[in-house]
Amino acid sequence: MFKDQIVAVTGAKGGIGRAIAEMYIANGAQVAISDYVDCSETANEIGAKAYICNVSDEGSVRKFITCVEDELGPIDTYISNAGVGTGNGRYVAGASNESWEQAWQINVMGSIYAARLLMPSWVERGSGRFVVTASAAGLLNQIGSTSYTATKHAAVAFAESVAIEHGVDGIKANCICPQYVRSDMTKGMLMAEKSRDGYLEPSDVANALKVAIEKDQFYVFPHKVVQEYFVNRAKHPETYLEGMGKLKQKVGDAFAAAKK
Ligand SMILES: NC(=O)c1ccc[n+]([C@@H]2O[C@H](COP(=O)([O-])OP(=O)(O)OC[C@H]3O[C@@H](n4cnc5c(N)ncnc54)[C@H](O)[C@@H]3O)[C@@H](O)[C@H]2O)c1
Repeated sequence: MFKDQIVAVTGAKGGIGRAIAEMYIANGAQVAISDYVDCSETANEIGAKAYICNVSDEGSVRKFITCVEDELGPIDTYISNAGVGTGNGRYVAGASNESWEQAWQINVMGSIYAARLLMPSWVERGSGRFVVTASAAGLLNQIGSTSYTATKHAAVAFAESVAIEHGVDGIKANCICPQYVRSDMTKGMLMAEKSRDGYLEPSDVANALKVAIEKDQFYVFPHKVVQEYFVNRAKHPETYLEGMGKLKQKVGDAFAAAKK
């Protein structure tokens, strides 16, 4: 399906990024993976090419894209997948300025730095696909991490802007919005393990992306229920806020019980 396409994935040492890279490789693509730490072992295991890229540094993103295009050819699909999350602590604005800035740089600016470089040539070519691994938190809320929630909402908005501004130029965009997925990010997280909507595998997310591309759908909902929650949030905001508040209390109680 993706035969001979050149695909670049960020934050792909493991987890969702690795699974997406594997999905593309299984479907005939040539894949460049990157991470801010060495990901050559992963690349060797799955048959990708490894690069170092810190997505919060525009120069590093530029170097990644330039090297991939020099060594493999023009990028057809860019997967902006690297992401981080930090907890609030006791109060909603409790996280440090530094952690807010880090979340903004990685979860949002990482996509912008890449799109800034890719769009002119994609527009000229009349094709290209920009995929953002956002989160269900980008449509709803990540209880206990306001910086994650806010920056993932911005990530969704940016992915939408790519579709809106450049659909007419032949460019496609996808926005992946999972709830909990088994990865380093959620390791040991009680809310993930106990989630009533399921704790998915990274390969489930990769498969959902493939299906969305086949169906030409912008949003990718590995947990189908997220779309329903999103509709209900828009229709009944007070009920949504009350329900999330109750869930927050329940999570707090479960956390306290687990600590005993
Ligand atoms: N796991 C989940 O439940 C879940 C749910 C929704 C969305 N997501 C999103 O999926 C994406 C992938 O996360 P994951 O779950 O596979 O976790 P993960 O921790 O395995 O992957 C995140 C990767 O990003 C890399 N990274 C961190 N800072 C970076 C930087 N500055 N530059 C480049 N790479 C950097 C990490 O080294 C790591 O390999 C993230 O954007 C995350 O927010 C995850």
